[in-house]
Amino acid sequence: MTRFSTTPPADLTAAVARLLEERSRRELAERAARISAIYRAQGRTADAIADEADALAYALTRLPATYAATIDAFGRLAEQAPQFCPRRMLDLGAGLGTASLAAAEAWPEIEAVTLLDRSRAFLDTARRLAGCGVGALARARLVEGDVLAPPAERFDLVVASYALTEIAEASLAAAVDAAWAACDGALVFVEPGTPRDHGRLMAARARLIAAGARILAPCPHHAPCPIAPPDWCHFCVRLARSRDHKLAKGADAPFEDEKFAYLVAARESLDAAPAAARVLARPAILKHGLRIKLCMRAGIAEATFEKRDKRTFGPIKKKAWGDALALEETPAKP
Ligand SMILES: C[S@@+](CC[C@H](N)C(=O)[O-])C[C@H]1O[C@@H](n2cnc3c(N)ncnc32)[C@H](O)[C@@H]1O
Repeated sequence: MTRFSTTPPADLTAAVARLLEERSRRELAERAARISAIYRAQGRTADAIADEADALAYALTRLPATYAATIDAFGRLAEQAPQFCPRRMLDLGAGLGTASLAAAEAWPEIEAVTLLDRSRAFLDTARRLAGCGVGALARARLVEGDVLAPPAERFDLVVASYALTEIAEASLAAAVDAAWAACDGALVFVEPGTPRDHGRLMAARARLIAAGARILAPCPHHAPCPIAPPDWCHFCVRLARSRDHKLAKGADAPFEDEKFAYLVAARESLDAAPAAARVLARPAILKHGLRIKLCMRAGIAEATFEKRDKRTFGPIKKKAWGDALALEETPAKP
């Protein structure tokens, strides 16, 4: 698969450290704890982020995870659409521009970036970070506004990372329609990996398919999602924690695992195709092989791959949760 580094760009880390120099670490840790509690309880940014100190606490303790999930989703898109070369990008509910920073790493060809958000605290801090040398933000246009009314332009890449989750149920369909209307190439939604957000993504998926979109990932088909509650489709990305990140969280572990859900849709004109199957959970290691839960065109399957079948087992043994399988790698009889 196309893997990009899950570590946020060095110019962002340096700029955040610079803006944090004058601030008390204790206060930062308190703010980070409060912000995490609000987001965990499905609170909104309007309740969590009031000023620059909050935005910087977010940059240190939450952004690394949303960045890692978003760039992982971009890797899945790049794998299904290797020729995709976006030039204009719209980052909906951008916050500090997490998705724009990730996109600049995945597709350095991007020339024009628009960050749209209604949080003035996030946008002002993004501007300050740009002034401290964050290249991808320095080139960006920052727009204060609502995701329901994006600029009346078309973009090769439209992304909403951890933003749909804050949209009220009654406005979700309109937000999806607005994002799709602005999209000329690929549309990526990245969300927390919860049953609620998976359900909302599947509602968005049905709406996009009805509007003529092709789904590129994670689904290998356009049929209704075969996953039934209490199961839900989500993925996991591991990210390293910096020293400051650990201090602000009061955590010892040098890494954390972020669970996320995502959806990649594309216009017909994009040269791309979905995978034949996708790995839906961490493969189970058996004495004689691997058992892998797959989403396939025919539905969900628990497939066993035997070590003794060297030709098929070779490529399969490297597969991880979230990976795509090509047609020749899928089992004939799961
Ligand atoms: C959890 S933050 C995610 C920020 C960033 N995309 C990330 O991945 O780190 C959600 C963002 O969506 C923005 N947002 C929520 N509802 C919005 C709306 N209706 N219009 C514009 N922005 C919105 C919030 O202000 C916030 O910046």
